[in-house]
Amino acid sequence: MQLERRLIGVRAALRELRADSGTVALVPTMGALHKGHIALVARAREVADHVVASIFVNPTQFGEGEDFDSYPRTEEEDAAKLEAAGCNLLWAPRPEEVYPAGFSTTISLTGVTEGLCGASRPGHFDGVATVVAKLFNQIRPDYALFGEKDYQQLALIRRMARDLDFEIEIVGVPTVREADGLALSSRNAYLSAEERERAVALPDALAETATAILRGESSADAIIAAKAKLFEAGFATVDYIELRDAETLEPVETAERPARLLAAARIGKTRLIDNIAVEKG
Ligand code: PAF
Repeated sequence: MQLERRLIGVRAALRELRADSGTVALVPTMGALHKGHIALVARAREVADHVVASIFVNPTQFGEGEDFDSYPRTEEEDAAKLEAAGCNLLWAPRPEEVYPAGFSTTISLTGVTEGLCGASRPGHFDGVATVVAKLFNQIRPDYALFGEKDYQQLALIRRMARDLDFEIEIVGVPTVREADGLALSSRNAYLSAEERERAVALPDALAETATAILRGESSADAIIAAKAKLFEAGFATVDYIELRDAETLEPVETAERPARLLAAARIGKTRLIDNIAVEKG
């Protein structure tokens, strides 16, 4: 696996890969790779001939007081995992290759970015959209893969790709979970052993709520019960538990059309997010 840190180098490497012919899939990451990321690489290998992964801890998607400085940086281990997973090229740009001096452009979406994590993390999705658009232009992949774990992020990237005519197929990959159901996340590393045990209440509450909604119970009541369950399990705050349309992310009350139940809650100092499909049949 080739490693590039300069735009000029990654473009030359891509020219060589493409000379081999075939398609290119991009797996954008911020590193601290776990099995969820490796599932993205595995799927990328199925859809395309060449796989490029990026590692860049993007400062513009972290708000004030968030964990940009302490975000785990484990590039050597990450590179070994990517190579073992069959990745061909690692793009780990220097910050100035992404944000050159005087950088003044922001991509900002309405609609899908409103509410949910958009409400409690102002500016976060502008940072995500801007860096992903840059990565798309730098790598020009045929496919780009993102985890369903960050469902709102996936929805905004699909929207942006359509709106800005990126000729890239956006592929969503199902969330990878621990044996007890907790969604894999780089931030799980922040949990103490006790918090980790209690954290499973989040996927459990989502699964119970989804079942209740599909049984025809009121989504509002089911969500109130889910919040109570999280507080009982020791979660300090629940930012949101909401039922949204699976595609547009507009708020819905029933699952007449495919819907998604999304949640964010804090246990100790760690903010966890998760979501689950709520679909008939
Ligand atoms: O999901 C992530 O790891 C990041 O938000 C992404 C898509 C790599 C953009 O920095």
